Amino acid sequence: MTRMIDIITKKRDNIELSKEEIKSFVQGYTNGDIPDYQASSLLMAIFLNGMTEDEVATLTMEMVESGDQIDLSGIEGFKVDKHSTGGVGDTTTLVLAPLVAAVGVPVPKMSGRGLGHTGGTVDKLEAMEGFHVELSQEEFIDLVNKQKLALVGQSGNLTPADKLIYALRDVTGTVNSIPLIASSIMSKKIAAGADGIVLDVKVGDGAFMKNEKDAEALAHTMVQIGNNVGRNTMAVISSMEEPLGYAIGNALEVIEAIETLKGKGPEDLTELSLVLGSQMVVLGGGANSLEEARGLLEKAIEDGSALEKFRQLIVSQGGNGDVIDDYSLLPTSEYTIEVKSDKAGYVTQIESENMGIAASILGAGRETKESEIDLAVGIVLEKKVGDKVEVGDTLAVIHSNKENVDDVISRVKDCYTFGEEGVHPTLIKKVITE
Ligand code: URA
Ligand code: CA
Repeated sequence: MTRMIDIITKKRDNIELSKEEIKSFVQGYTNGDIPDYQASSLLMAIFLNGMTEDEVATLTMEMVESGDQIDLSGIEGFKVDKHSTGGVGDTTTLVLAPLVAAVGVPVPKMSGRGLGHTGGTVDKLEAMEGFHVELSQEEFIDLVNKQKLALVGQSGNLTPADKLIYALRDVTGTVNSIPLIASSIMSKKIAAGADGIVLDVKVGDGAFMKNEKDAEALAHTMVQIGNNVGRNTMAVISSMEEPLGYAIGNALEVIEAIETLKGKGPEDLTELSLVLGSQMVVLGGGANSLEEARGLLEKAIEDGSALEKFRQLIVSQGGNGDVIDDYSLLPTSEYTIEVKSDKAGYVTQIESENMGIAASILGAGRETKESEIDLAVGIVLEKKVGDKVEVGDTLAVIHSNKENVDDVISRVKDCYTFGEEGVHPTLIKKVITE
């Protein structure tokens, strides 16, 4: 038996840990044999000294093996999953799932409710009355084989080691470590059964990675892990200088996703969906190049097949497909309140994190697993980075079920920074394919 103290001192002295040592840490911590103080000490040593490519691959696979692994082998074809690191009002999953399925690549989407500023993908879809995600494994697999697309709520005990380690990192100042973030994210995707993985690594104010260099290093580490353990992986680095799209909130984001599938969505959300979708299609074997894949996806939007795929998903899981043409079937809030600018200039930044908090104060998100989400509420931005604003212009519209939202109004205003020049941000910073 390897002693934990020896593993800690080895990592402290920047010596590479063996497979056995990493295994002994992950297993020992998960089953309660290793106390929090020793695990914390090792995590801090990893935070300070980093990990080699072999170490991080081992850590990832040990976390995968700590719990259940989903078997998707009953689904024909190459299964590609997507993950965005953070992001506020990020509607890409809702757009990507039907879009990619529409060109014939299977999308077996497993999603959680999640904590956060707005709900997870499951909550958003449940904004459509009747839509349910409680499918048996067999129903799920049959649906994907039949229509290339199904969405199931997360079940099973996936990566318990990651849950415990992540919780400890959260209170010991060791979240922001590239090998620890990379192994945490990748372990969950691998356990969920993906053959291929597309990553959207956010960079900027509200993201884990504040600058492009770090974001690139994180992306490379994750791509390396994936490829080292036999899961084809690609990544995109995208900017978080402002929330993606206009809508932040559950039903509001469903509308935004449908508009995007109709070809009338926000420019940034459309672009990111096409870039990530192209990678998913290439990995899934639906095209030979990113250019070819993009052409197929653009066509699926133009000819309406992506929208029809979304309708098919809704109907097959108990919802009313008419929602696509009639947004009044979605929950709507009692009040809409315009936030007027008391400054003039060009918008240079919109703090995503703070905007997410504003939406969650309205009730769009969940603070604990037990909290109820208000699916109707949220914020719709009217002004984005690069836009010109005069005093009195509407910056955003608050959708609320409370009449008095003065605190939210001032928070939304505070999210906006103005400057002298209108510069449109570059959304896609980099595409990483190896
Ligand atoms: N998301 C995760 O799942 N894990 C991390 O470590 C950071 C972000
Ligand atoms: Ca959005």
